[in-house]
Amino acid sequence: MTQHPTTLPAVVLLGAVLGIGASGVVADEIPVYDDGALTYELHIAPLMARHCTSCHGWFFPKGGFRSDSRERLIQGGRTGPGVVPGKPDQGWLMHTITVTEGRYQMPPGTASLPPEDITMIREWILQGAR
Ligand code: HEC
Repeated sequence: MTQHPTTLPAVVLLGAVLGIGASGVVADEIPVYDDGALTYELHIAPLMARHCTSCHGWFFPKGGFRSDSRERLIQGGRTGPGVVPGKPDQGWLMHTITVTEGRYQMPPGTASLPPEDITMIREWILQGAR
C-alpha cells in the first residue's frame, strides 16, 4: 500500500467517470438495440456529417432535404420521402448515392461515397432505419 498511494483514488475516480457515462450521457443519447441494429446516431450521422450536411444542414438545405437528423432523413425533401424503413430500394437517399449521373447524383460531381459507406446506409435502412 505504501508504495502505491495513488492506486485507490485512481480506481474510485475511474468508477465514477464510467458510472456517469453509463447512466447519463451515453445510454440516454445513443440507443443500443438488443438485436445489434445499426443506428442513426452511431453509424449514419458521422457519414452524413462528412459527406452531406454541408449542403443539407439546417441553413437553407438544398432540395429541402436535411441529413442532420434521423427524422429529417426519413422525411426527405422536395422530391419525396428520403427513407422508407426496411425498403432500401425506395426513398431518395439510396437513390441519390447510387445513381452515377444526373442532377440527383449525391454528393454532386464525380466522387461518390466509398462503397463501404453505401453498404452501411443500405444495411441501416434494411434493419429498420433506427
Ligand atoms: C455540394 C452540395 C451538396 C452535397 C455535398 C450534397 N448534396 Fe444533395 N443536393 C444538392 C442540391 C443542389 C440538390 C438539389 C438538386 C436539384 O433539385 O436539382 C440536392 C438534392 C438532394 C436530394 C433530393 C432532395 C429532394 O427531395 O429533392 C437528396 C435525397 C440528396 N441531395 C441527398 C444527398 C446526400 C445523401 C448527400 C451526401 C452523400 C448529399 N446530398 C450531398 C447539393 C448537395
